[in-house]
Amino acid sequence: MIIDLFTLFPEHFEWFRGQRHVANALERGSELLFHNYRDTTPLSAGQVDDAPYGGGAGMVLRVDVVDAALEAAYGPDREGVRVIALNPSGRLFDDSLAEELAAEPHIGLLSGRYEGLDERVVEHLANDSISIGRYVLSGGELAAMVISDAVLRKLPGALGDAESAVEESYSAALEGAPEYPHYTRPASYRGWEVPEVLLSGDHAKVQEWRRARSSERAEQAG
Ligand SMILES: C[S@@+](CC[C@H](N)C(=O)[O-])C[C@H]1O[C@@H](n2cnc3c(N)ncnc32)[C@H](O)[C@@H]1O
Repeated sequence: MIIDLFTLFPEHFEWFRGQRHVANALERGSELLFHNYRDTTPLSAGQVDDAPYGGGAGMVLRVDVVDAALEAAYGPDREGVRVIALNPSGRLFDDSLAEELAAEPHIGLLSGRYEGLDERVVEHLANDSISIGRYVLSGGELAAMVISDAVLRKLPGALGDAESAVEESYSAALEGAPEYPHYTRPASYRGWEVPEVLLSGDHAKVQEWRRARSSERAEQAG
């Protein structure tokens, strides 16, 4: 899988690239490619933004600048690439969307900054607009990392133990419910006991208990 990251701050991703599961995915042939809007801007002196029409605070990332970055990366034909604008008001990111993106061979994530992307990026250049939550970050870079993390860990070989990604919160294996709680040694600590059933060695009972806790959590989360 190829993930293109369009950003003004490629250096923000240095830590992310070194994360074990990301490095594993890259070693197995996935690619994270960085595109700095400033490197391909058609404007002079590296300009990438401008004041908003209609007035108001802040600057807006220009549509021609984003278009030039996409053109430099893909040429005129963007066939086969799912281009996603990162936007606080976009479609809410969740596990099923992560699954959907993990099945794509090639995605491009457009990080905004300042007041955000010119709306024509969303309307005409991107195929999708995605939000990682109903709050506002200072830039799309963290959102791009969240999405790339959730997507890459679903690829074969990214996690040390492939089973970890099968039955986890919001997965199809748990019918979209949160995962059940985990415990490890010691079995008793300060009088806080691990549930008996987990020590019983009865696999069927453990499974039953886990499903029940997972359903309980789903109900609590509403
Ligand atoms: C400061 S924000 C712009 C906020 C915008 N003025 C608003 O009120 O919706 C700058 C950029 O950060 C990114 N961003 C901020 N919050 C986000 C979120 N919850 N999900 C995805 N991207 C986000 C987007 O790329 C956005 O263009």
